[in-house]
Amino acid sequence: MRVRKISNYVSYVGVNDRSTEKFESLWPIPNGVSYNSYLVCGSEKTALIDTVELGHSRNFLQTLREEAGVEKIDYLVINHMEPDHSGGISAVIAAFPEIKIIGNRTTLQMIRGFYHIDDEDRFIVIKDGEEVSLGDRTLRFYLTPMVHWPETMMTYCQEERMVFSGDAFGTFGALNGGLVDDDMECGPYIEEMYRYYSNIVGKYGRSVENALKKLSGIEFDYICSTHGPVWHAMKEKVIDITSRLARYESEKGVTIIYGSMYGNTADMAEFIASELNRHGVKNIHVHNAANASMSQMISDAFRYEGLIVGSPTYSNDVFPPVAEFMRAMELREMKNKVVACFGNNAWAPAAAKKLEEAMNTMPVQDLGCVKMQYSLNSQNEDEAAELIKTFVSHLKQ
Ligand code: FEO
Repeated sequence: MRVRKISNYVSYVGVNDRSTEKFESLWPIPNGVSYNSYLVCGSEKTALIDTVELGHSRNFLQTLREEAGVEKIDYLVINHMEPDHSGGISAVIAAFPEIKIIGNRTTLQMIRGFYHIDDEDRFIVIKDGEEVSLGDRTLRFYLTPMVHWPETMMTYCQEERMVFSGDAFGTFGALNGGLVDDDMECGPYIEEMYRYYSNIVGKYGRSVENALKKLSGIEFDYICSTHGPVWHAMKEKVIDITSRLARYESEKGVTIIYGSMYGNTADMAEFIASELNRHGVKNIHVHNAANASMSQMISDAFRYEGLIVGSPTYSNDVFPPVAEFMRAMELREMKNKVVACFGNNAWAPAAAKKLEEAMNTMPVQDLGCVKMQYSLNSQNEDEAAELIKTFVSHLKQ
């Protein structure tokens, strides 16, 4: 992506990645991702905010040198040290040897650890709320730990009414020519924001809430995240989505996750889905955990109010892909859901028992478990129908 001006003082100098198949080697990105970097040019000094992933450093420097025509950069602000943003630090230092790095104490430990840069004169260590002047533009730094790593911070330019937010408000999807949301069709980026948040930042809801509280004290019109569009017209919408996800506050809908070796547990999943619909639930997302994307299952579980999980007994335990999903829920400290489960077995009822135990460890509204043996029959159908009737009565819709 060529240099794009967001204002007379701020330019976009990030890159698109359409080659990586899995972000963090885990999460599919069929539509790519952008690594956003911004150049702020004041009357006296110039600051670069974040870099890009290592493999894109050459293009990044070319953009800075040839397209932005930058001869000198005074400061490199590191909002976040994850290598998708810090991978270009060494290349930037090599290209602009006089550059000073602005970060907090934790940032600098990480720079030493990742990139073996330990030239003390290179660093400007800032504290929460401190400012650095660029002349007629000023950068103020807010520490926002654990959004998404301990060193994460945001940079605010009051004169431009812009927040450079790091991973917060980020989303998957390379930028398809546009940059600021006013000029783009943003539906796909908004959809992917749920998957991005739940997969990447989902564990850190309380930290995200703390960051949002800090932001509520400042006035801004633009959110310049490290991934995805610059938010302007949709600023309030993305703040609302992020705020609700951070509080695990869900939308109408139910996610069903199940595993099934020979189709019997799948029969129950289908029966439960049809019962939900019969009781008026319209937004139902059914995933066979053996085939479905873990990334999408986590996203739907975060997004929707109801969660129903089913598994056959396998080696006296939960079916492995379902167990992996439950582990993902536990890691992300899932809460505020209406949940139920169903377990199937031939001779050992371990899956139902272990799913119930796992649900009981979460701060959720657990409405119980249907236990079936071998296959669907009129008795377990009746039990499931009764459970779903109760389940639906506990949904807010
Ligand atoms: Fe986009 Fe946490 O890095």
